[in-house]
Amino acid sequence: MAGNALLQPLQVGTIVLKNRIAMSAMTRNRAPRGYPSNLMKEYYIQRSSAGLIVTEGLLITRQGTDYPNAPGIWDEKHIAGWKDIVDAVHEAGSKIYAQLWHLGRLSHPEAPEQKLAGVPVYGPSAIAARGGKFRGLPGTPGFVKPSAIEDPWTIIAQYKQAAVNAQKAGFDGVELHAANGYLVMQFLDNTSNQRTDKWGGSVENRCRFGLEVLNALIEVFGQDVGIKLSPAGGYNDVGMSLQDTLDTYSYFITEADKLNPGYIALVRYSLMTNERFDGVLRATGHDVFESYPHLIKNARVFLNSGISPEEGHQFVSEGKADGVFFGFSWLTHPDLVGRIKRGHPLDNALDFLRLIPEDGEQDWSKGYVDYPMYVQS
Ligand code: PHB
Repeated sequence: MAGNALLQPLQVGTIVLKNRIAMSAMTRNRAPRGYPSNLMKEYYIQRSSAGLIVTEGLLITRQGTDYPNAPGIWDEKHIAGWKDIVDAVHEAGSKIYAQLWHLGRLSHPEAPEQKLAGVPVYGPSAIAARGGKFRGLPGTPGFVKPSAIEDPWTIIAQYKQAAVNAQKAGFDGVELHAANGYLVMQFLDNTSNQRTDKWGGSVENRCRFGLEVLNALIEVFGQDVGIKLSPAGGYNDVGMSLQDTLDTYSYFITEADKLNPGYIALVRYSLMTNERFDGVLRATGHDVFESYPHLIKNARVFLNSGISPEEGHQFVSEGKADGVFFGFSWLTHPDLVGRIKRGHPLDNALDFLRLIPEDGEQDWSKGYVDYPMYVQS
């Protein structure tokens, strides 16, 4: 595709991306007990034609995720492991942000890591998620009653420490995971946040936590901070009325943009987000890409979810977006940029069952680093 707008460089914060084809965070659960490995390094190096790689979610503290091998960024061994990967990605010519992740009420009290953490499962309010996954863990969704966080500043400090750690590991920046029903989104959403203090209730109060976390990350990384939002909701039992959604996200995005982050990434509705409870669809049916980008004046606008290269080119050339995140397309095509550049097909099928290795699977390389490069037939 000659003249593809996705192939143009882009300044984001203080760095220049060599193209606008970014790789979004994807949980792959291949960090043994949370520590980065050589296999992960190989996976990220393979994808270093990306203008920007955002890592899978990095847990900012020890938590009982249903992914026993999700990586962390809270201790020195994590920092050293990530530094090795970051250095290799830099050497291979790409830029890499760490995605900072706190599960909030989606953690599990009986997961070994949560027990080791010695703290309760936290949420903005003591309201259980009816969604969520319980891979190999006891109970069913709805069983985990979170404890309301007493003082949100303690958690904000943990995010800030994780950013300091990411900086020590040499990351180019951090992305705040404020999407998909995890902790920051739990504060934004009036079905999961029913606090009566200054962190709940009004739009301004529900937005306070995410904005304070973003501010703390910017104190560490300056402009080299991104934030990911999924206003259409629907995943992990979040989702508000259309009016509450528009009011909340319009305010949040406007205020976040005033803090001058590097980018704001907006995720549109997808099939992943169409959970139903008691017959009621949790996702809010509105066009995320039409509703919010015009509010963003300072940050770069990135769009995400099920975008094809053709659509991405169109968004960028029409000025609707500065860049595009691809997820599964990167997962299945390590040479995604080369394929887009040369008009080669994206014809590797997703090995869905190996997105996350099965329990007991010995060879984690399958469905991870073995997706083939394009071969002319
Ligand atoms: C998932 O567990 O399916 C998952 C994790 C993090 C996300 C989205 C989905 O942001």
